[in-house]
Amino acid sequence: MIDGKIEKLLNHQIELEFESSQYYLSMASWAEKNGYNGVSTFLYKHSEEERGHMLKLFHYINDRGGHALVPTIGAPPKEYKGVKEVFTKILQHERIVTSEINDLVDACLKAKDYSTHNFLQWYVSEQIEEERLAQTLLDKLDLIGDDKGGLYLFDRDLESFIPAGDGAA
Ligand code: FEO
Repeated sequence: MIDGKIEKLLNHQIELEFESSQYYLSMASWAEKNGYNGVSTFLYKHSEEERGHMLKLFHYINDRGGHALVPTIGAPPKEYKGVKEVFTKILQHERIVTSEINDLVDACLKAKDYSTHNFLQWYVSEQIEEERLAQTLLDKLDLIGDDKGGLYLFDRDLESFIPAGDGAA
């Protein structure tokens, strides 16, 4: 049976993953509407992955005798100034998620909940990958600067991009 405090924290993590999924879905829609087909394909996939991260938590909480709860959150922003702003916000958001995961891992150790601690290691690794990817894409955008041809190629490359090591489903 899962500790009540850990259950609450895991439900908070569900909220964050759901928020990520909705946020990236909104960005995907903005990108699609503005002609960035590759960016939108990438973000629609990313939104699905975040939903996968959320569902993993649902099953874990319920399997341990807790109750996974559907979160209520506000609507994500609809408009973005450009592709650079989108990836800047993704990196900022992922850094927040990493920090929350680290707090959660810490709470598990304090509560001597080693099962949840073990379960969360997947998220710890995933966050390293997510931050690395967002940073890499931002670095590329910095190199491209105002070059429209470069942005065209960036968008085209993202269309067929397959993220490394995402085993969530
Ligand atoms: Fe599931 Fe991007 O954190």
